[in-house]
Amino acid sequence: MQDFKDKVAVITGAANGIGLDIAKALIRQGCHVVVSDIHLQDAQARADQLGAMPDATASAIAIACDVTDVAQINALADKAWAHFGHVDALFNNAGVGGGMTPAVKTKEADLRWVFEVNFFGNWNTCMEFTRRFSEQGTPAHICNTASENSIGWPAPYMAGYNATKAAVLGYTGMLRMELPEAISISLLCPGWTQTEIANSGALRPETYGGPKPVRDTTPIEGDVTPYAVETVGAHTIEQIKQGAFYIFPHYAARHLAEERNDEISAAFDAQQTDVDDWQSHDTRTYFNRMIAAAQAKKGS
Ligand SMILES: NC(=O)c1ccc[n+]([C@@H]2O[C@H](COP(=O)([O-])OP(=O)(O)OC[C@H]3O[C@@H](n4cnc5c(N)ncnc54)[C@H](O)[C@@H]3O)[C@@H](O)[C@H]2O)c1
Repeated sequence: MQDFKDKVAVITGAANGIGLDIAKALIRQGCHVVVSDIHLQDAQARADQLGAMPDATASAIAIACDVTDVAQINALADKAWAHFGHVDALFNNAGVGGGMTPAVKTKEADLRWVFEVNFFGNWNTCMEFTRRFSEQGTPAHICNTASENSIGWPAPYMAGYNATKAAVLGYTGMLRMELPEAISISLLCPGWTQTEIANSGALRPETYGGPKPVRDTTPIEGDVTPYAVETVGAHTIEQIKQGAFYIFPHYAARHLAEERNDEISAAFDAQQTDVDDWQSHDTRTYFNRMIAAAQAKKGS
């Protein structure tokens, strides 16, 4: 998507943090925004503020949606299309931290909650909007929020959170190949950013154990500093316009990714198995043939 002017974007989890900063960047580009969040009151307050920004050149409305509920995702899409007549971009951003606990002490209910929001919520929203974008038949963009943890060093004592973000990377990479040409997709991988995410336990529903105590994340002297949230929105929009798949607003994440990639390459080099014959086992040949056959069938 090269131009957001007069387009319409739906952003989930947009009442705070990264989603809100993306909304600000979009509205400055003349893109109408749907500020969606599990908390309607907060979303409505943000939409009012966005619409009143002196440099706003488009409108903002609020629509409630808990992304763990498929019926609410459908209703979000229905209301967005009914209000604007078209939707051109989805920022699939809602997510929760889930707290810091050693993996063996993680309660299953906590793990399921984090997966419900960060993976199933993300997946279900993505699929619903993909279906509707396909029907609409005009160019559209989906930006899935993953994390630096998807591509690099895992966040400590957040095994469940890391697993959800790896899962978002896994399925988004595949969708990139499956989607029709008119629908582009990107993967936003922020580094540690100052937002409300450490407090997301306060949102945990009763079915998963109810609200959790808020963690004190005030940095102590000598700590690394989280990135300011303002580093994310404008960068993300610019990268989408330039056609990037991986969106990295924070260079610190490069070193985490490199460390992981270097370790993987070193392990392959040390284990030297079928170095002379690996090409004939490259699974991409097989999958590319499957994809080409499926696309040819669709076109016939
Ligand atoms: N902050 C970071 O360091 C960081 C780093 C990498 C990735 N991320 C990702 O960025 C995204 C946004 O997080 P953030 O840091 O801005 O956090 P945030 O807590 O400031 O904002 C997240 C928003 O999502 C909403 N939300 C929570 N559960 C929801 C649900 N079930 N349905 C709809 N909305 C819901 C919250 O109400 C909140 O407004 C998340 O996917 C997060 O995993 C954050």
